[in-house]
Amino acid sequence: MTRSIKFGVYIPGNLAKELEELSKQIGVSSRSKLIQEALQLFISEHKWRTEGRVVGVITIIYNHDIGNVDEKLTDIQHKYIEEIVTSLHVHLSSDKCLQVVVVKGNSRKIRNLVNEIMNLKGVLAVRTSLLGEPT
Ligand code: NI
Repeated sequence: MTRSIKFGVYIPGNLAKELEELSKQIGVSSRSKLIQEALQLFISEHKWRTEGRVVGVITIIYNHDIGNVDEKLTDIQHKYIEEIVTSLHVHLSSDKCLQVVVVKGNSRKIRNLVNEIMNLKGVLAVRTSLLGEPT
C-alpha cells in the first residue's frame, strides 16, 4: 500500500451542502472516506477510455425513420465484428428503437465504435456501461 496524501480542494457551496445532507442520510461521516469512494467510482467509470481491454454494453436509442440509421448501425456492427459479442433490438414505438450491444475488446477500438454510433444521424441517445476487463 502506498502512502496517503493530503490535498485541499474547492467545491461550490451548493455541492458541499448536497454532499453534507446525503452523507448524513447514508451514514458516512468521514469526508475523506466520501471523497475516496467518489474518486474510486470516477476512476472505474473513466479508466476504460484510456487503456487495456474492456467489457460492457452500449445502449442506443434511435429513430429509425431518420437517415437510414438502421442500415448504418448494421454496417458499423459488421465493421466491429471482433468487438461485438451480441446485440438486442427492441421496437419501442412506431419509429423509436432501442439497441443494446454487448462489447468486449480493446478500449481504443470500442471508443471508436461508440463515436461512430454517436455521430449517426437519427441516434437520439447513447449510454455506455463499460468496465476494464478483469485480468
Ligand atoms: Ni425497431
